Amino acid sequence: MEVAPRDGLQADPADLSAGQKVEFIERLVAAGHTRIEAASFVSPKAVPKMADGEAVMAAAPRMAGVSYSALALNQRGVERAVDAGVDEVCGVVVATETFSQANQRASVAESVQRWRSISETAVAAGLKTAVTVSAVCGCPYEGRVAIETVLDIVGQLAETQPDELVLADTIGVGVPPQVVALFEGAGERAPGIALRGHFHNTRNTALANIAAAIGAGVRVFDSSLGGVGGCPFAPQATGNVATEDVVYLAHEMGYDTGLDLDALIATTAWLETQLGHGVPSLVAKAGGFPDPR
Ligand code: COA
Ligand code: ZN
Repeated sequence: MEVAPRDGLQADPADLSAGQKVEFIERLVAAGHTRIEAASFVSPKAVPKMADGEAVMAAAPRMAGVSYSALALNQRGVERAVDAGVDEVCGVVVATETFSQANQRASVAESVQRWRSISETAVAAGLKTAVTVSAVCGCPYEGRVAIETVLDIVGQLAETQPDELVLADTIGVGVPPQVVALFEGAGERAPGIALRGHFHNTRNTALANIAAAIGAGVRVFDSSLGGVGGCPFAPQATGNVATEDVVYLAHEMGYDTGLDLDALIATTAWLETQLGHGVPSLVAKAGGFPDPR
């Protein structure tokens, strides 16, 4: 799941127009992406960079096999997402109370309730659903988060039978044994529900965590082209793991991603010109496996 157009751009200093975001999405699709988090239907006062979700969705290229996801955190958001024609709706429940209040002005229990109604509306409209548990490896306000706290929320969300449950290391503090324990526990609490990983590379542990999660059987990951991104409500939250870096790892491990690494690297170069600044991806700088021929 390519999340740069949403998680990547929501806190970037650059102000991309809807037209630039659409061109970005077109380039991502051309590089082989089939699932893209394209927009966020939250309060434009809370996240001004995502205020143009309707315009982006109206002009994004539609084709068989390409699915657009959007974030919705309340009833108004899911209704906007349905009207805008998204294919998948993703909600968020933060694992800790302080961060939950900072991010969506609701307690954890209220967020679970909000997700129930978001999910009902999305399912009734025929859309796929995913829900993210955020700050699963640690919280910018409360510090360490007990695995049991996360798994309890996973169990409550599993009752809504989402198509996917996402575990997010929002502030990039996690390490492999913790990630494995979280995903193994989530698999037990949410039997039959696909799990997805969302890692930020704030402390350079994201790829290690992804490799560990692959070992634990996880096959879907969020990543952001170039490694752009961050959460406006989490101090010091830096970029998502870079798509190119994950794709390099996956291909060299023998997994097929359907993505064209060279096209991704070229798109990162284009993105840097649009943002007006460099991005953290290493593979974008080094290139793929050297081919001396
Ligand atoms: N779309 C557009 N506007 C919305 C909206 C939505 N989905 N939800 C709320 N609003 C507007 C309301 O119209 C209201 O505007 P007003 O002040 O002009 O009347 C304002 O936002 C506050 O609405 P309210 O229902 O009281 O929401 P809230 O203050 O309890 O905030 C959220 C809850 C979730 C809407 C808000 O905190 C939010 O959007 N947060 C964004 C979190 C985020 O995207 N984090 C990063 C990714 S996880
Ligand atoms: Zn994120």
